[in-house]
Amino acid sequence: MPPATTVEPCDFVVFGGTGDLAVRKLLPALYLRDRDGQLPAETRVVGASRAGLDTAGYRDKMRGELERFVSDDQLDSETLVRFVNRLEYVSVDVADPANWGGLNDCLALREGAIRVFYLACAPALFGPICENLALEDLVDAKSRVVLEKPIGHDLDSARAVNEAVGAVFEESQIFRIDHYLGKESVQNLLVTRFANTFLEPLWNYTSIDHVQINVVESLGVGSRGGYYESAGALRDMLQNHLLQLLCLVAMEPPTYVDRETVRDEKLKVLQALKQITYDDLEKCVVSGQYGPGLADGVAVPGYQQEVENPESQTETFIAVKAEIQNWRWAGVPFYLRTGKRMDRRCSEIVVQFKSVPHSMFPGSEGHSEPNRLVIQLQPHEGMRLHMTAKEPGPGGIRFKPVSLDLNYIETFKRPSPDAYERLLMDVVRGNPTLFMRRDEVEAAWEWVEQILVGWDVSERGPRCYPAGTNGPTDATTLIERDGRAWHEGVTA
Ligand code: BG6
Repeated sequence: MPPATTVEPCDFVVFGGTGDLAVRKLLPALYLRDRDGQLPAETRVVGASRAGLDTAGYRDKMRGELERFVSDDQLDSETLVRFVNRLEYVSVDVADPANWGGLNDCLALREGAIRVFYLACAPALFGPICENLALEDLVDAKSRVVLEKPIGHDLDSARAVNEAVGAVFEESQIFRIDHYLGKESVQNLLVTRFANTFLEPLWNYTSIDHVQINVVESLGVGSRGGYYESAGALRDMLQNHLLQLLCLVAMEPPTYVDRETVRDEKLKVLQALKQITYDDLEKCVVSGQYGPGLADGVAVPGYQQEVENPESQTETFIAVKAEIQNWRWAGVPFYLRTGKRMDRRCSEIVVQFKSVPHSMFPGSEGHSEPNRLVIQLQPHEGMRLHMTAKEPGPGGIRFKPVSLDLNYIETFKRPSPDAYERLLMDVVRGNPTLFMRRDEVEAAWEWVEQILVGWDVSERGPRCYPAGTNGPTDATTLIERDGRAWHEGVTA
């Protein structure tokens, strides 16, 4: 593996510095980049929150969290000491403009360094934080801001957030993160499509029957109930992760890859999505909410009990039949499905090819299954091409389903880095290619908003499904009505 290139020194400020995302993802990712020598000695990580700690207390707490969230084989005491010494803590109450002196003093120590402001907090705080950063004069041409999804809770609020952030930062300084774009297998999708010749001629309505994007999780909402109640599966997963995957599968090849060309092509896909009108809602969208059930054989409560709201109508599952109205994809449905507390954890893109036009093997045993390309994101990264082979031996032609497998770990002999590792370094480098541009986010909201509006009008809430199953039966009907079935992939 080529050595990691050291990035420029920076002050990496995390608003929500004691929160779930910082602790589970951001600090471990920065720790691992430090371990691989990508952070220069001057780089600092500044936790900003209302937790009322001091730097010594923050360092202690984060040392414990890193020991918890970085796997044993990736943790070494030398890096841990070095990384923890980079940590600073400032107490900031976003709502109180009088409270920003600590951050100001801390950043003043490193005038001229790149400043990354990572907003790992509720979208309602994005505008006020940016406004205060401007008032405190903390933003310069080398600063960047990172926004966690969901950006807003509908199109209007997303526009308002984008306006408020855009009043302080140039679009080129705004990094809207979707961690799915940092996954190795997702980036490999572009390489598979465009650095090889064999797929692209088939990658359209003439050879492809349909595409499925399945992101199913076995975990429930856990401690994130407060956030999830106002989000639900549509805002948490569909509007961003699933639509981004759809864009990468469906987009046209850009002339070359740079910060704008890929995003231009993704935008065209979002703009070509067929509107889901109120009349189409029943046929094209199914929402669900998990009730009590089993997870790994253990009884677990339903969503309403978990969030202590017996009236909650928040969807923890959504399945959608989407269509892209352009020449390449005419008549090819894209089935999207995501849910929590399902029977397994599995994220995959399934490209289902059409059947052979004519069977020239009369009397052969078995039948030839149509080809299927499965791109696995989780639990194991890889790719599998399902095809039909002749079973060796005498006795005529016997068909045998076989697969060509690419398993990342076996092939590359090392685990892939976490998506955040790559993306955080791209922020410091100032490379926005793998981040969502404002127009993309708004186009995605525009499309999903019709579903939200339809739900508001319709009397029907999410269908209940028992925890530990594969979702509501209506979701099975949604695809079976078209003579197709969900691909129920690997279990983990
Ligand atoms: C996050 C969602 O963006 O993605 C979570 O907020 C979800 O609800 C998570 O669990 C899934 O990410 P991954 O990488 O584990 O598939």
